[in-house]
Amino acid sequence: MIKIVSIVPVSVNDVEKLQAISRVTFLQTFAAHNNEADMEAYINSSFSIDKLRDELNNSKSEFYFAHDAGMIVGYLKINTGEAQTEQKGINTFEIERIYVDSAYLGKKIGQLLLNKAINLATEKRTAYVWLGVWEENRRALAFYKKNGFIPFDKHIFKLGNDEQTDIMMKLELN
Ligand SMILES: CC(C)(COP(=O)(O)OP(=O)(O)OC[C@H]1O[C@@H](n2cnc3c(N)ncnc32)[C@H](O)[C@@H]1OP(=O)(O)O)[C@@H](O)C(=O)NCCC(=O)NCCS
Repeated sequence: MIKIVSIVPVSVNDVEKLQAISRVTFLQTFAAHNNEADMEAYINSSFSIDKLRDELNNSKSEFYFAHDAGMIVGYLKINTGEAQTEQKGINTFEIERIYVDSAYLGKKIGQLLLNKAINLATEKRTAYVWLGVWEENRRALAFYKKNGFIPFDKHIFKLGNDEQTDIMMKLELN
C-alpha cells in the first residue's frame, strides 16, 4: 500500500534519474505494441542525456517526480509558451508526459501528477490544458476522459519509422 507519495520538482542534477524513469516507463507502456527497432530509435533520440538536459534547462518546461519512500515511481513533464510541441495560441499549457511505473499503476499516482499539472496551469492563468495520447492507449484515454478532457483533433506521431495516430485532448480551465 502506498503511504505518502510526494511530487517534487526535477533539477538538472537529476538528469540520470530522469533518463532512467523515462526509459523504463516508455518501454513498459509501449514495448508490447511496437517493434524493437522503432522503440530503440525513439528512446535513443528522445531520452538522451543531452536532450533531457536541454529540456531541464528550458525555463518554459517543468518536470516533476513522484516519490514513494525515496523511490521514483513516476514523472510529469509540462510545457508552456514556445516549449510546447505544437503552438496552440497564447496562454495554453501542454502535458507532454505523465508516466507511472507499471508496478504502481492504479494507485492514484497518475492522479497526483495530473492534479499537479492542473494546479500549475491554473496558477499560470492558462486558457486550456492540452495533450496528445496514442489512440490505442485505452488506459490513458479513460484516465483523461474521467478527468474532463475532451478530444478535439487527431495528429500523426512518429515512433521510429512507424506512423501512429494521437488523439489530441483538452481541458478548458475558465
Ligand atoms: C495513465 C496513467 C498516468 C494513469 O495513472 P494511474 O496512477 O494508473 O491512475 P490513477 O490510479 O491515478 O487513477 C485515477 C483515476 O483514473 C481512473 N483510471 C485509471 N486507469 C483507468 C482505466 N484503465 N480505465 C478507467 N479508468 C481509469 C481511475 O479509476 C481513477 O479514478 P477513481 O479515482 O474514480 O478511482 C498511468 O496508467 C500510466 O502511467 N500509464 C502508462 C503511461 C501512459 O500511458 N501515459 C500517458 C501517455 S499520454
